[in-house]
Amino acid sequence: MSTVVYVPRDAGALALGAENVAAAIAAQAQQSGAQLSLRRNGSRGLYWLEPLVEVETPQGRVAYGPVCLKDVASLFAADFLSGKPHPLCVGPVAQHPYLVRQARVTFVRVGIIEPASISDYRAHGGYQGLSRALAMKPAEIVQTVTDSGLRGRGGAAFPTGIKWKTVFDAAAAQKYITCNADEGDSGTYADRMLMEGDPLMLIEGMTIAGLAVGATQGYIYLREEYPHAHKVLNEAIAQAYRQHYLGADVQGSGKRFDLEVRLGAGAYICGEETSMLESLEGRRGEVRVRPPLPAIKGLFGMPTVVNNVISLATVPAILKDGAAHYRDLGVGKSRGTLPLQLAGNLKRPGLVELAFGVSLRELLYEYGGGSASGRPLRAVQIGGPLGAYLPESQFDTLIDYEALSAVGALLGHGGIVAFDDSVDMAHMARYALEFCATESCGKCTPCRIGSTRGVELIDRMFKGGDREAQLLRLESLCDTMAEGSLCGLGSMTPFPVRSAVKYFRADFLKSRPAG
Ligand SMILES: Cc1cc2nc3c(=O)[nH]c(=O)nc-3n(C[C@H](O)[C@H](O)[C@H](O)COP(=O)(O)O)c2cc1C
Ligand code: SF4
Repeated sequence: MSTVVYVPRDAGALALGAENVAAAIAAQAQQSGAQLSLRRNGSRGLYWLEPLVEVETPQGRVAYGPVCLKDVASLFAADFLSGKPHPLCVGPVAQHPYLVRQARVTFVRVGIIEPASISDYRAHGGYQGLSRALAMKPAEIVQTVTDSGLRGRGGAAFPTGIKWKTVFDAAAAQKYITCNADEGDSGTYADRMLMEGDPLMLIEGMTIAGLAVGATQGYIYLREEYPHAHKVLNEAIAQAYRQHYLGADVQGSGKRFDLEVRLGAGAYICGEETSMLESLEGRRGEVRVRPPLPAIKGLFGMPTVVNNVISLATVPAILKDGAAHYRDLGVGKSRGTLPLQLAGNLKRPGLVELAFGVSLRELLYEYGGGSASGRPLRAVQIGGPLGAYLPESQFDTLIDYEALSAVGALLGHGGIVAFDDSVDMAHMARYALEFCATESCGKCTPCRIGSTRGVELIDRMFKGGDREAQLLRLESLCDTMAEGSLCGLGSMTPFPVRSAVKYFRADFLKSRPAG
């Protein structure tokens, strides 16, 4: 009988050499006559251990990582195919401390199944949500999503059920479901991991959304920098068509839902929902003036659901286990779970899906293991390049939309980037403004001109002169950008700038060597 060995095909693992490791394991097995079946899974999200090789044993899967090419011979010599000890052995992976305390709902199958295999997906609970949805009236599906308390995971945290109800109520000959998979935020990778590790969950979620609001066509707007996600999504979509989970007659229901992937245009602003719609229609990614909302007049002028990957991929679990099951997790108005992405200067960067209400400190130290450099952590940026910087004194803040808002921060897409005490926060504020200047679509003045003026102000501070006066001007510029910009890129760039000034003022006022 052959032993089953898993090597991830996730882009993060591939970047660390997983493809070569898989090839070397196959070659060595052939050479030694070992019977093995090599399978390609997604990543479990323990990125400091990638490539993480797993072997199926009678006691469950035993993992080894991080495996390099040079380790393959010694793994065979140690009889890793029987789950035997080796310096890289991390034991039964399902019992790893990083995983056991998580509350995986959206990521429940990621790293476990073969991503595009419908039989694997179904064997692990997949498509049960769709079966339930097919037996319900569209309005009941919308009500279930509303009752679950799910809020959009793309950044704005708008209640998903309310958005769906608006599209449901709009009368039109054609409606659309669009999935925002542009994932441009720094330090975020949950969308990519989900699409590469369990694409059928997203496909199932979009199909349920189509049934709920009466849309027959879906598009996944995928950032072009994700070639591996593109490949696996197309494989999974082809499988879903073959087995009638997509197409003219979804599972014999007489209901139609078609789905295709469209590649993004490579600009951060194309993740803003109206820019995304412009880009999907084949135009330059530029923000549309609202109203009308996309839910009323979206893609090709028709009522359109725009949702993030994680929002849509969570829907099958809500339908399968019921709204109350999901709503019972979390705190206050932040219900359910959030896949948090730990990145930056941490010993154990990776994906941690937890119910809302965990503290930032617990995430950074108990999961992240503190700084990789061994120096004290000084700041974290939460929510991507437009998120606030929080100092160590705020690390007890809870991961909860309202608690973060109370300290001038936002959760965004759940990316958390850590910095040690060597970081210069005035440089980080300058970087935020420079990012805005580079990525601005140019439609409105506060963002297009303001971001460049902000960079110049900080440069003047760096050169000396009246730093307090420049700081006052910077704060006033932030007010103008926050109040006067047409979309979140311009109006949220003040978050990192203002928080850096508020918590790390000395970095702006200190003298610097010339040049
Ligand atoms: C500059 C900018 C970039 C954005 N980028 C993304 C993105 O990459 N992915 C995403 O889902 N939402 C992004 N958003 C938020 C979307 O506009 C929108 O709120 C979201 O896709 C709605 O889905 P949700 O309700 O499921 O969160 C961005 C917003 C702004 C202002
Ligand atoms: S804020 Fe910036 S990105 Fe947004 S519409 Fe204005 S110029 Fe374009």
